[in-house]
Amino acid sequence: MLRGFLVLLLLLLVAGAGCGKSKSGSSDDEGPTPVDLDLPREGLANWPEMPIPADNPTTEEGIALGRHLFYDPILSGDDTLSCASCHRQEAAFSDGPNRLSNGSGGALGSFNANALANLGWLSARPFAIEVAGQTLSMFWDGRAESLEAQAIEPVQNATELDQPWPLLLQELAAHPEYPARFEAAFGSREITQQHVVQALAQFQRSLRSFDSKWDRVQRGEDVFTDAEARGFDAFTGEVGDCWHCHGGNLALFVNQGTPFANNGLDSSPDPGLMGPTGRADFEGLFRVMSLRNIEVTGPYMHDGRFETLEEVLAFYSDDVALDSPNLDSNLRTRVIAGPIPAQAQADIIAFLKTLTDQTFLTEEAFSDPFR
Ligand code: HEC
Ligand code: HEC
Repeated sequence: MLRGFLVLLLLLLVAGAGCGKSKSGSSDDEGPTPVDLDLPREGLANWPEMPIPADNPTTEEGIALGRHLFYDPILSGDDTLSCASCHRQEAAFSDGPNRLSNGSGGALGSFNANALANLGWLSARPFAIEVAGQTLSMFWDGRAESLEAQAIEPVQNATELDQPWPLLLQELAAHPEYPARFEAAFGSREITQQHVVQALAQFQRSLRSFDSKWDRVQRGEDVFTDAEARGFDAFTGEVGDCWHCHGGNLALFVNQGTPFANNGLDSSPDPGLMGPTGRADFEGLFRVMSLRNIEVTGPYMHDGRFETLEEVLAFYSDDVALDSPNLDSNLRTRVIAGPIPAQAQADIIAFLKTLTDQTFLTEEAFSDPFR
């Protein structure tokens, strides 16, 4: 317990140094209305400031456009699927409970669909790594650099929306409402791929989760049960040692020093970070995924191999493959030290469930605007 709180106190001190200033959301000129996505600071000093790309400032009109695009089946080749078909709000914008996702025409992809919460904090160093001039950040294997770059792929991917970009741009240009929406957001009725991905990125940056029980405990508005408190202690301490990969940055519950790791799942047919980089020492490394809202984002891992958090904990306790290539050395040390006691596994799960944010899962502003 004490150890957990000491870790937290240290974090508060370290993160406090980088803490943000607030701008007002109003604007004098006629352009789009700026939105400040930085969090209310009170009780949340331990969150870093959200980095916003200089060429894509967040605005009300941009978020509104992005929200429409995100939910609109016009994005798919056969007009049946939208981003939200695989990223559903009640599952924290993952595709839970589906292990893999059905794309256009029922085609199955090979990865479990990620949750989309607090990703604005992800598309930034130090969560990215730099290899031979390439910035690796998003997706399970890091192959996209930013939310803007990421959004290009699902539109044209045959197992996702399966729509060639030029056709999508034509359809949007001929639409009764989109040209005006693009003009409001970007000052031009001309619809470009750049503006489509920028609007999608703005909407996704607005998907912020900071009202879980964990957050409320941090703000002094709630208290952990004994099991949750013990679970946090096991999560951060030597018993579970989850913290060195899933700790540090509280926006995501991912350690900035370890954005990618091999957690010993065994020989997956997917090469992980070796795919986009060609480096053998990256074989088997995958993104350390955010644990925000983890209770509702299962199945778990890049291939969705575990149905429940109980299976995940049993894996970390007993089944980590010690011969997996490039296995993280701290994890190896913990595994050799012995299994995670059953009580501690249950306690860690109790703690993980405090990361579920009902406000996020039901927030009107994130929901389908066509309903
Ligand atoms: C057919 C299902 C499907 C559709 C449609 C889809 N996605 Fe995804 N999405 C996935 C899967 C599966 C992954 C994980 C893929 C991977 O890592 O290779 C993913 C990953 C992502 C990520 C990466 C998150 C992270 O943490 O790195 C983002 C962001 C995202 N999708 C946004 C979108 C947007 C925006 C759209 C619409 C333009 C969209 N998705 C459409 C299934 C889908
Ligand atoms: C060596 C770093 C490391 C350690 C230590 C670690 N994890 Fe992970 N964790 C990862 C990586 C990497 C992934 C994604 C792996 C994949 O799918 O290939 C992951 C995935 C997960 C997932 C699934 C996320 C999702 O969206 O599907 C959960 C839940 C999880 N870890 C919980 C824990 C818990 C609980 C502990 C402590 C008992 C722990 N992890 C320890 C690196 C780590």
